[in-house]
This record gives sequence, C-alpha cells and structure tokens, in this order.
Amino acid sequence: TAPAADPAADPAANAPSDPAAATAARATLAPTEGNEVAGTLEFASVDGGIRITGQVTGLPAGGEHGFHVHEHGDCSAPDATSAGSHFNPAGIAHGRVGEGEHHAGDSDNIAAGEDGVATVDSLLQGATLGDGSGTDIVGKAVIVHADADDYATQPTGNAGARLACGVIQAR
Ligand code: CU
Ligand code: ZN
Repeated sequence: TAPAADPAADPAANAPSDPAAATAARATLAPTEGNEVAGTLEFASVDGGIRITGQVTGLPAGGEHGFHVHEHGDCSAPDATSAGSHFNPAGIAHGRVGEGEHHAGDSDNIAAGEDGVATVDSLLQGATLGDGSGTDIVGKAVIVHADADDYATQPTGNAGARLACGVIQAR
C-alpha cells in the first residue's frame, strides 16, 4: 500500500469519519405536516458551549420562534412529537442561556425577517458535541416552534407547535 493512500497518514482527513472525534455536526431541518419551514444548521464546539449557525426558511414574516435541541433524534411523527421533550440530561428547569438554570437543549428564540428567513447564530450551554457522554447532542433533534419561547413556562417555554425538525449528525 502506498503511504499516500493510507488515511492514518493524514489525521485531519480522517477526522470527519470518526464519530468519537467529531467536533462539528449538521442538522437538516424538514417541515412538519402542513408547514414549509426548512433549513440547514451547523454545530461547532466553542469556548463556553456549542455554537449553532445557519438559516431557517419558510417562516411567517417577522416572527420569533422557540428553538431547542430535543431529547430524541426522531422526526418521524407528522407533528415531530416523536422528538420528545427538551434535551435535559441534568434534570433541571427550562430557562434561558445566560440567565441561570436552563435545559442543555435550550437556546434563544430565532427571529424571521420580512422574507421569512431567520439567520441563526445561537449558543447551547451544558451540552457537548460528539464525545459520547450523557450531554452529547449528536443523534438528538433540533426543533423550530410556531411561537416564541417565553423562557419561563415549564417545561416547554410555551413555544407551541413544531414547525420543523432535524436530526443532529456528526460530520
Ligand atoms: Cu422545542
Ligand atoms: Zn427547555
């Protein structure tokens, strides 16, 4: 075997195929029944948590929408209830990142422009990416909700129906 053909000779090229070493992940959002919300999100480990970037399309113009990681990587139900509750490995209360106690899956609302597109740049705290621990979000689901999260109502933030769902996959 020629050395150049051995993936182990180039650790950087080998990393994306090794789930245990993943430091980045992606989710492709698909609409729930009766909705048109879609998008692509990228997840990256940063100081203090996981940064989520990307775009969500097909939203009502100008609205705010709850945006969370949920506990099951299962978007199969027409209303995405199969994704379960907010990802909450610590068993604590729902809330807002940066303002005391919150679920590991909690993140700030996303805001749609007049074109129905939300540019996402959000933070998760208390979650990890690809380490296989109890706080790992790889294999969980991201949900975009119909209403804004009030960051207070337990355990959901009263964010309403689920408009889109995507499973977080290591890359
Ligand atoms: Cu949610
Ligand atoms: Zn929550």
